[in-house]
Amino acid sequence: MIPEEKVREVAERLSIVEVVSEYVPLRRAGANFLGLCPFHAEKTPSFNVSPAREIFHCFGCGAGGNAFSFVMKIEGISFPEAVKLLARKAGIEIEERQLTPAERKTQDEYSQFLRINDLTASYYRSVLINGQEGEPARQYLANRSVDPAVSEAYRLGFAPDRRDGLVKHLKNNGVELDTALKLGIVRKSDTGWYDLFRNRLIFPIRDARGQVIAFAGRVLDTSLPKYINSPESPLYHKSSVLFGLDMALPSIRTGNSVIIVEGYFDHLALYQAGVQNVVATCGTALTGTHAGLIKRHAERVYTLFDSDGAGKKATIRSMELFLEQRIPAYVISLPAGDDPDSFLATHSKEEFAELRDKARPAFEYFVRALLTETSPDSVDNKVRIIDDIVPRFRKIADSVERDLYEKEICRLLGITVHAFRKRMGGDRISPHDAPVPQQSLTQKGNNVQDTLLALFINYPDARAEIVRGGLETIFSDAYLDVARLLLNSLTDSDNSLILRQMTEILENVEQKMLFSRIMVSDGYLADIEWRAVFDQCTRSHEKKQVATIKDIASRLAVLDPDSDEYALLLKQADSLRTRKSKL
Ligand code: UTP
Ligand code: MN
Repeated sequence: MIPEEKVREVAERLSIVEVVSEYVPLRRAGANFLGLCPFHAEKTPSFNVSPAREIFHCFGCGAGGNAFSFVMKIEGISFPEAVKLLARKAGIEIEERQLTPAERKTQDEYSQFLRINDLTASYYRSVLINGQEGEPARQYLANRSVDPAVSEAYRLGFAPDRRDGLVKHLKNNGVELDTALKLGIVRKSDTGWYDLFRNRLIFPIRDARGQVIAFAGRVLDTSLPKYINSPESPLYHKSSVLFGLDMALPSIRTGNSVIIVEGYFDHLALYQAGVQNVVATCGTALTGTHAGLIKRHAERVYTLFDSDGAGKKATIRSMELFLEQRIPAYVISLPAGDDPDSFLATHSKEEFAELRDKARPAFEYFVRALLTETSPDSVDNKVRIIDDIVPRFRKIADSVERDLYEKEICRLLGITVHAFRKRMGGDRISPHDAPVPQQSLTQKGNNVQDTLLALFINYPDARAEIVRGGLETIFSDAYLDVARLLLNSLTDSDNSLILRQMTEILENVEQKMLFSRIMVSDGYLADIEWRAVFDQCTRSHEKKQVATIKDIASRLAVLDPDSDEYALLLKQADSLRTRKSKL
């Protein structure tokens, strides 16, 4: 644990401009510095760094934060690691806080686990490389044309056909076998300790930092099961691990996209062919946690699954996860009968790139797959197809995209848009879909609320005024959350230190994005008469709300008064009216 004062000291010693400049060329633009965002591909700079606020924000991709978050994101490291890295740069020595006995025990055990896995990986590696016992595995890899350098990069190994090869190796290295037991790589029976893996090719599974956290072992012949994986352990949670992420990170960062495959050998085949922005799940279906992890690192994702039925299912399931998390997803389709490994065995990297360039948006792939399964030639079938589509269609976040798909779906099914919307429920206004005014304002970034929040932050008098009128009459959604959190922390004197620490206090990405956006762009509010701007803002806020009420009224007119949608809109209109009257 790093003491808080140290963190503050590091933050104060370094300027964010200095830190960022080591990675991104910056030029001065007014009060801020400007450069090309390192977190997404862009040609015109929208990456802002504010030296006064010690904060960065990209208007292109929304990334933002302080010097620590910048280093965490660009180096792919944790907060304590980022603090240590910057401390070194600032010439500050960090002594970690004394751990409590319980913390020390956990940490000791944790480092023991890592040491055991490392010893294990080295043992299997040495069996593969040296000596007679590794011969069948060397032969196997040669048959599958795996380059020695690639074998080395993966740290491939071989578990010999012995009952307790690993057990002995660990013992010889002074390992407590009971600790290794928790990792599942050795086991205990009445007759003594024995190895989990026997006569299997070993893929070490590593975390994003390259530390070995688990193993997978493949048979060398056709016997079953083809793979066994080490079990869940304190180090290894398979639903949140992406195999190969450590190797893929540099390439993911350059191209901002990632390819997901299902097999260890698929991963290897792509890597060997020079396609390195690839990760694989570890013998499990893709989960929401995986999708979240991907979102942290890439802007676009390609799925590359086998062309068989199971592969199709996995593709569609993953599409739903990506729609939910709003990650643009594309499907790379392989020729029938191929998997990535077999495709690359007979085709070049360029031919693979052609396939990737032809990748279809996941939703389009899904609709087409549905139509090949069920032909839309009867009313019954059409209804079945639409009912399959609707719940997924609702998850499409982008309205332009939705309109396009709506047209396309209707064309393919030979139905009218009206009929489709009816099936969607009430002209598309459902609790989930209704363009709730406040929500859409937040997503697009609302200038009025932006300005009001900036006033709230910078002018104690404006803050008092807003508090008097009630925060919720002015702010909604993330704005309201951020304002509430700020209100707890801000004082009437100099707040610069508090503002610098705000990104740690904010609760989620949306709040952080909003906050950093405002903090890098509130320069225009310096030395102004806050009251004039405040009045202007509240007036335009009010006008907008009147417009929204009108809009809602016109929609209410065409809805069934007994429907849920009607009730929901009515409630919205009511709450808008109350807000308005409070202004
Ligand atoms: P595949 O059977 O496609 O394996 O399973 P693969 O990695 O492509 O291997 P090769 O090319 O046939 O040698 C895909 C993934 O499913 C998991 C593994 O993660 C595997 O990589 N799997 C498969 C298991 O966990 N257990 C199994 O028995 C089979
Ligand atoms: Mn495969």
